[in-house]
Amino acid sequence: MTDCYYCALHARRSEDIPIHPAEFDLGSPAPRCAAHWRMICECCGLSAHFMATAFCAVREQYFCANCAEAVETVSDSFLGWEYYFRYRSPWSGSWELALDRAIFEGCHPHQGAVRAGKPFPGVSPERHVGRRDARSQVWLGDTVDSAYITRAWNRNAERWDAVFDVDGDESRKYHGDAALLSLTGDVRGARLLDLGCGNGYLSRILAGDGAEVTGVDPSENMVALALDRESRDPLGVKFAVASTSDLSPFADAEFDVIVANHVLTAVVDLDGALAEVNRVLRPGGRLVALFSHPCFSCGPRAWISLVADSPRREEIGGYLVDHYFRSGTYILEGWEGFTPVPYVHRPLKAYWRAIRDAGFTIDEFDEPSVNERGIAELPAWRVAQLERAAQSCVFACTKVENKSRVGKQWGES
Ligand SMILES: C[S@@+](CC[C@H](N)C(=O)[O-])C[C@H]1O[C@@H](n2cnc3c(N)ncnc32)[C@H](O)[C@@H]1O
Ligand SMILES: [Zn+2]
Ligand SMILES: [Zn+2]
Repeated sequence: MTDCYYCALHARRSEDIPIHPAEFDLGSPAPRCAAHWRMICECCGLSAHFMATAFCAVREQYFCANCAEAVETVSDSFLGWEYYFRYRSPWSGSWELALDRAIFEGCHPHQGAVRAGKPFPGVSPERHVGRRDARSQVWLGDTVDSAYITRAWNRNAERWDAVFDVDGDESRKYHGDAALLSLTGDVRGARLLDLGCGNGYLSRILAGDGAEVTGVDPSENMVALALDRESRDPLGVKFAVASTSDLSPFADAEFDVIVANHVLTAVVDLDGALAEVNRVLRPGGRLVALFSHPCFSCGPRAWISLVADSPRREEIGGYLVDHYFRSGTYILEGWEGFTPVPYVHRPLKAYWRAIRDAGFTIDEFDEPSVNERGIAELPAWRVAQLERAAQSCVFACTKVENKSRVGKQWGES
């Protein structure tokens, strides 16, 4: 017989807590008894972790956190937890305690029934928690070149445009953009190149900030979408089809600032690309490049937890990464609705060295975390994740005036 994970956890934190045998999720790292299992919500008919469930005293039925009219986190330590949840009933509007807290306070309506030896009602009959598997990463080898990557982006252009719209996705709204724009600084009057501009989302923001913007992308379909938006709502942005490896439409030193948002991880030939970037930037000009943080975007990249269905941020186990030092192209399965796009993984030091060797000094480096807006708008579990692992990193660099001075190591002549 196996002890219930939560009974045993609580017994360690407080005396007089009985330990019940586990009946559910047997064989998992956190098998559980009926009281600590999942309850069926009478509002949506689905089941949820007992801490994501409350009992409406008026209606005398369970409802889940998803169906609650509102959710509140109340700071108060009990049984080693830092807080408890309160959920507002969708039927009566009354505030009810999450079941872990209700059980702790002894006010769970069914505790009486259980004390009388009756079964704990409303328990979900499912035997196991559905676990979300880590996404599998498939390494592609040398077959992938930049034409292959461009074809993949071309196929995704329309779908990308629909999802990554004006208000943006999570990265734009809640962490990436603010960091990138702050390191880019004042762009009024600057001749600015948005490299790998996609649908021109960032080009348009920077044009709004007063820059004279050119956006380039090797995907014709992306550029067509950018041009379409520009023709409907002109901001004076020029768009062209071009890739980082061949910026021949542009003269040497043509730009004051170059931004590359989530682009360097699409570039196979990083040295060649950075050489071109360096060429079209004027000496003293700035390059600001944001991309997925290599330390957290390698391997299966999954949040893992002993208790896969728990709503508590204390129960997030950690973030799974792998193959950090391997360099190469891969696709990540499970990007719903998109044709898989090859990405390039290389360790952080490879970016650092390539940037330095291409003739830049690295002035700033940032790893943005969740911003105020994210804290206010995202669910608590997601905020907790964003506070615990970096999504992206940003290099802010300056093109050196005299390239021969770059890349020299201490002691070299
Ligand atoms: C993740 S999207 C980012 C788009 C845009 N920067 C944004 O922030 O919305 C990556 C873009 O990089 C482009 N791309 C792929 N390979 C590239 C290359 N070698 N040079 C420049 N852009 C490239 C893709 O076509 C795609 O539009
Ligand atoms: Zn238990
Ligand atoms: Zn529900």
